[in-house]
Amino acid sequence: MDRKEFIKTCGFACIGGTAFMALLQSCASTNYFAQTTFEENRILIKKTEFLKTEKEKITERRFVLVRTEKFGYPIGVYKIEENEYSAMLLQCTHKGCELQPQGNFLVCPCHGSEFTNKGVVQNPPAEQNLKTFKTSTDNENIYIYL
Ligand code: FES
Repeated sequence: MDRKEFIKTCGFACIGGTAFMALLQSCASTNYFAQTTFEENRILIKKTEFLKTEKEKITERRFVLVRTEKFGYPIGVYKIEENEYSAMLLQCTHKGCELQPQGNFLVCPCHGSEFTNKGVVQNPPAEQNLKTFKTSTDNENIYIYL
């Protein structure tokens, strides 16, 4: 490989790497981990965690994620209606891979199982629904009971 070809190859690799990193960052920004407060047997999330500002416009997230040490997997919290939220462990019931939220569905990257935003299995190979958690709300907060 001559010098000119080497520089050209490095240039393409650099551009490709930059594009890949931009793609990764855009993927990461779609999954938002909410600020939470842990109380004895429940997690508290402010309803405002579902709001985001884009281009000076306030929009609403469909879901947020919650980190937990207790389960080793995140909990996905979906807004179903104004005061109705669902919460489920993002552990696939087939072989335990971590599920990826895609809109109103959760998809398993390992073998393709799909679940609704209430944790109900839609596509095999998983056969069982996800572990779900009871939720309640007041004017400001969402509570997830562990
Ligand atoms: S582990 Fe999720 S489909 Fe197999």
